[in-house]
Amino acid sequence: MKARIVTLPGDGVGPEVTAAAVAVLKAVAARYEHVLDFDEQLIGGAAIDACGKPLPEASLAACQSADAVLLGAVGGPKWSDPNASVRPEQGLLGLRAALGVYANLRPLQVHPALTRLSPLKNERLHNVDVLFVRELTGGAYFGVKTRTADTATDECKYTVVEIERVVRRAFELARGRRGHLTSVDKANVLETSRLWRSTVQRLAADYPDVTVEHQLVDSMAMLLLTQPSAYDVVVTENLFGDILTDEAAALAGSLGLLPSASLGDRVPSSDPAGHLLTRKGTPYGSPSTGEGNSVRLAAASSRMGLYEPIHGSAPDIAGSGVANPIGAILSAALLLRHSLQLETEAVAIEASVDQVLRDGPYSRDLGGAAGTDEVLSAVLAALDSHAKNVTTASSGTRACA
Ligand code: NAD
Ligand code: IPM
Ligand code: MN
Repeated sequence: MKARIVTLPGDGVGPEVTAAAVAVLKAVAARYEHVLDFDEQLIGGAAIDACGKPLPEASLAACQSADAVLLGAVGGPKWSDPNASVRPEQGLLGLRAALGVYANLRPLQVHPALTRLSPLKNERLHNVDVLFVRELTGGAYFGVKTRTADTATDECKYTVVEIERVVRRAFELARGRRGHLTSVDKANVLETSRLWRSTVQRLAADYPDVTVEHQLVDSMAMLLLTQPSAYDVVVTENLFGDILTDEAAALAGSLGLLPSASLGDRVPSSDPAGHLLTRKGTPYGSPSTGEGNSVRLAAASSRMGLYEPIHGSAPDIAGSGVANPIGAILSAALLLRHSLQLETEAVAIEASVDQVLRDGPYSRDLGGAAGTDEVLSAVLAALDSHAKNVTTASSGTRACA
């Protein structure tokens, strides 16, 4: 397989965690004999500093012709003046809109070795396996904004088309998992949420094998803490999804752990036909329930995607080499799965991360003292032994057959 990946390291810890994810992708490419070409481009504050714009035309053009895009993080105090006319975050939002990646998949699992880090009681963390599907290109993020000296507005607008496409994606994902969909809105107050809810109710008829429940976002914020294992796929609008997923990350033990995949309808240039995936996995190496893993079944066909850890530029630790690279590395695994159809390779990365989360070394946010490079080295070593084990096991099978 030959593919071109655009990397957008961005700001703060973005370059640190992106470098780690790229190192893992290079190791995978070498081990599994793929040719991955990396093309690094500017975004965010780094792009503002270099050329005055958070998303230069050259960066966008490179992303639009790539097979996949891997992003670190954007933003930071240097560019955070509330009166600034140009902001790093505009680059990221512009990129999401331009790529049409309306469905943002944010899987949450709680590794058994990390339950001590969660603010929740241990017993509430068993079997937590939630796939958040956050609408990513609509709502208050993209409505008309106004500002005068004493008044500001952010229009929150959704069309049926925007709601339908992301909700259908969520139904399909639920179908490949445990068959349960929770739609989160604020239909008791917001008109956009009433349109959202009635659209979900109408689409439910097309997915009789999926059970649907509706939750108001305020109570959902509470239920995520009291019964996180009750949820399978959670679909919600842009702003609610942003907030709920940072809350969810706390259950896993650190914001630095969670990956994301943002997908639209475009296929990568190298896979215009798309392919089918059938393989099932299990979350974090737990015994198989036969239900499949959150995102592993999501890649029914190849799609051009934007992959990024859900955390930000972490200005408080940027430059000190202590950022946790796991969220970025797992985002690279999602890239292999969803955009390049390399399921075996994606599973190899996930199994390696699973091993490191079980045995260490741990970065500071996970209660350890390891730096980004040390965690990366451990993932690379685990990857190496995973690949060797798989080779031995498969040659063993051949010998017996
Ligand atoms: P943040 O996610 O950057 O940091 C929140 C906390 O989590 C901090 O204490 C930070 O040290 C910690 N943290 C985050 N990532 C970590 C990692 N990989 N390893 C260890 N600890 C980690 O959120 P913030 O401080 O509210 O935002 C900072 C900037 O990042 C803002 O400008 C914001 O707009 C931007 N941001 C960007 C993205 C993105 O590019 N996708 C996402 C969120 C926030
Ligand atoms: C995220 C971030 C972004 C968002 C910001 C940086 C625009 O918080 O990816 O979760 O709000 O979508
Ligand atoms: Mn966020």
